[in-house]
Amino acid sequence: MTDLSHLDSIVDDADSITEVVQAAMSRTDDVRLKQIVDALVRHAHAFFREVRLTDQEFEQGIEFVKAIGQATTDDHNEVVLCADVLGFSTLVTLLNTIDKTDRTPGALLGPFYRGHSPEYRNGECIVADGSPGAPLFVRGRVVDRARRPVANAMVDVWQASPVGLYENQDPDQPDMNLRGRFRTDAEGYFRFRSVRPAGYPIPTHGPVGGLLEKQHRHPYRPAHIHFLVIAEGYETLVSQVFADDSGYLGSDVVFGVIRDLVGRFELHEDGKAPDADVTGPYYTLGYEFVLAEGTPTYPTPPIK
Ligand code: BEZ
Ligand code: FE
Repeated sequence: MTDLSHLDSIVDDADSITEVVQAAMSRTDDVRLKQIVDALVRHAHAFFREVRLTDQEFEQGIEFVKAIGQATTDDHNEVVLCADVLGFSTLVTLLNTIDKTDRTPGALLGPFYRGHSPEYRNGECIVADGSPGAPLFVRGRVVDRARRPVANAMVDVWQASPVGLYENQDPDQPDMNLRGRFRTDAEGYFRFRSVRPAGYPIPTHGPVGGLLEKQHRHPYRPAHIHFLVIAEGYETLVSQVFADDSGYLGSDVVFGVIRDLVGRFELHEDGKAPDADVTGPYYTLGYEFVLAEGTPTYPTPPIK
């Protein structure tokens, strides 16, 4: 038999392969990349051992990854959706926000964030087409951890319509409907008018929908508005505020609901809405966003 003892990266069995792979990657210069891929390999190998993955199951897994990639287009991101329903996105968000005391927790970005939303002045309406729905007046404030106002913060908001669809999913809504960017004033306030969003099912036409079905899970999210807050000198906050009277608060399919992120969507029947053209019932939402000091980052939009 040939003597191969001088080949130290030869694999003897299922137990020894992990160390051999780690040794092969050991010259990675980028320290953080090395740490991440090293841990990924270690945990993935342990997972394959734990479930004793069969060849067929491995193939199915590869096919699934291929399918979520192929189902992803400029206006639909199945990969983000997959990370969301498996709790990956919420876990990463919480790891990066909830350990820091006294700041607003983050919530996942989701697959429907688009860059370049229209800029509005405070008090303006983000309903581009006058679409029907219960009027909603939002008044937010951005402060630091000492509760001092953060002026000139950029607040990007996006939400589903009263029928539970984002504009990019709905041919009946104009481009960029229910999306907009605002700037906080000297006291940290921003205000806008909208319509009350509905809860909605996440898209289920692709492989992620198939997975949810096999897991006997419903696809719904509670009604919410997304907020992205970016200010010089502070960590970027990606979050959501959920309607306190919405269904599915306790079973969000993507695990985004954190107690502190449930906001009061207050119904008023007094006919004294902030805008004179609103004469019937309307809702108000007030929410304070607390930022942590740090360096702003800019999330990559999952769709165009
Ligand atoms: C959203 O809130 O926009 C969302 C998040 C995860 C999956 C689908 C939609
Ligand atoms: Fe959403």
